Amino acid sequence: MVKYNINNDIDFVMIPEEKLDSIVQRIADDIDRDYPDPHKKLLLLGILKGSVVFMGDLMKKIKRPVEIDFMKVSSYGSGTASTKTVNIILDLHRADIADLDILIIEDIIDSGRTMLYLTKYLKNKGAASVRCAALLDKPSRREVDYNADYVGCEIEDKFVVGYGLDFAEKYRALPYVGVLKDELTK
Ligand code: IMP
Ligand code: MG
Repeated sequence: MVKYNINNDIDFVMIPEEKLDSIVQRIADDIDRDYPDPHKKLLLLGILKGSVVFMGDLMKKIKRPVEIDFMKVSSYGSGTASTKTVNIILDLHRADIADLDILIIEDIIDSGRTMLYLTKYLKNKGAASVRCAALLDKPSRREVDYNADYVGCEIEDKFVVGYGLDFAEKYRALPYVGVLKDELTK
């Protein structure tokens, strides 16, 4: 086993595991409250890859029936700089989208461009409704008019990793949300 402790790359833990658990429970309870009819289809649409840990925990806590699917979009390259266009890399392929309430599951809202684009895209496809649950939100970074329907935690403008979020594909498996040491994002 290589002697490398990934925790040493973290400046400080911003949201510890127990806090994440209660945040996710709160969102799950809100979803159960807002989608009360178990006979209507609710699709949790995870945006790969950053949402997978949040989505996995969230779906276990939601009591009503859900279906799951995934899309992959690109808005970021390998580092921290935002690019201006959104590309669909993996699309949602479903015939019967008209009877679907779609809840997009996202790791973090930054400029807001990804979610604004996806929301319009899925509404145009004819979904019954489109909402978004985001674990994290950086409102100070917003470049377009977009607000998620469910937000776990608003954070300041710091680059965070863990609980699904990466920097150049690393740190996704950390069980907490932490801030990377400055020198590692340079
Ligand atoms: P937006 O379109 O600018 O809102 O981009 C949101 C996407 O940027 C998220 O889904 C993340 O993939 C990425 N992102 C934004 N901020 C962070 C961060 O602090 N850590 C890791 N990824 C981030
Ligand atoms: Mg993402």
